[in-house]
Amino acid sequence: MTDIPSAPEIDPGDFRHVLGHFPTGVTVVTTDGEPGAGRPAGVTIGSFTSISLDPPLVGFYIGSGAGTRDAVEAAGHFCVNILADDQQDLSNRMASKADDKFEGIGYELSETGSPILPDVLGIIDCRIHEVIEAGDHDLIIGRVLNLSVRREARPLLFFKGQYGSFSG
Ligand SMILES: Cc1cc2nc3c(=O)[nH]c(=O)nc-3n(C[C@H](O)[C@H](O)[C@H](O)COP(=O)(O)O)c2cc1C
Repeated sequence: MTDIPSAPEIDPGDFRHVLGHFPTGVTVVTTDGEPGAGRPAGVTIGSFTSISLDPPLVGFYIGSGAGTRDAVEAAGHFCVNILADDQQDLSNRMASKADDKFEGIGYELSETGSPILPDVLGIIDCRIHEVIEAGDHDLIIGRVLNLSVRREARPLLFFKGQYGSFSG
């Protein structure tokens, strides 16, 4: 049997560099804002993934210190918005620390009451199934309640720290 070294130190720069070679799609996860704040919460997420077909589960990893992480857990539900390749500005806005990320964005509400952003490729509306701690991130698993494709367009991709499009 091969000897597997026990948890060696990994340089964070190396970690980011190598993991950056794995391309992802780009989503924005939305949910209710703080009660009384009058605005919802949303965050750009590349770690979104499909998990299980039966039951239908999806999930994403979010930094345990991210403001939207607590908002999602408090609301108990969230909506995953899949971005198109002409939505880089929206991705940057939702990844920013802007006071009101939704200012000037005309969203509608999903069945769970989470924002559906304009012109997204599709939405996956969920209630929280489980939250699992994983190092400095948490895995939030959602039970899919409803989902739909809303537009036929190319997806926004993220690779080596840059946005791109799908050319297949
Ligand atoms: C393309 C892209 C993908 C991202 N994916 C993730 C992710 O999967 N998980 C995460 O915690 N942050 C991710 N981020 C960073 C968050 O969007 C960013 O930290 C945001 O400021 C957190 O906002 P909040 O503190 O208001 O919740 C991503 C950012 C970009 C631009």
